[in-house]
Amino acid sequence: MTTVITFGTFDVFHVGHLRVIQRAAAFGDRLVVGVSADALNLRKKDRLPVFPEAERMEIVGALKEVDEVFLEESLELKRDYVQKYDAQVLVMGDDWAGRFDELTDVCRVEYLPRTPAISTTALIEKIASTA
Ligand code: CTP
Repeated sequence: MTTVITFGTFDVFHVGHLRVIQRAAAFGDRLVVGVSADALNLRKKDRLPVFPEAERMEIVGALKEVDEVFLEESLELKRDYVQKYDAQVLVMGDDWAGRFDELTDVCRVEYLPRTPAISTTALIEKIASTA
């Protein structure tokens, strides 16, 4: 049984999110997703996500590829989460390329190319500009 773990905000869920989850799931038998907390996003990006953490977790957790979701409370705890969920593979988008190489002593680390031309930030800007 190979457990895969991945992380993200997954706000205003879009096809780039779906594809990274589908590709992450293909690395193993069980996929665990850490959905980043509202407070973490506020600290990191200086704004709250559009959808609150409980709803973002509900959406991600409803996907057939996802076996378990949890709230990611800190970006610095990846090693603890990998160990807690007994993950053998950590999958991240290549916007994080190289940033988690230090974890290769506890799991395999894979960086996947992002789906081009879509992001939550771009979607929010597009919606705002047409409102
Ligand atoms: N992702 C992806 N392709 C995209 C957008 C996101 O593969 N076009 C992946 C990211 O690499 C990450 C996961 O989806 O592994 C969650 O990313 P997140 O930061 O929540 O989404 P973004 O759309 O990048 O959000 P933002 O614009 O706010 O940074």
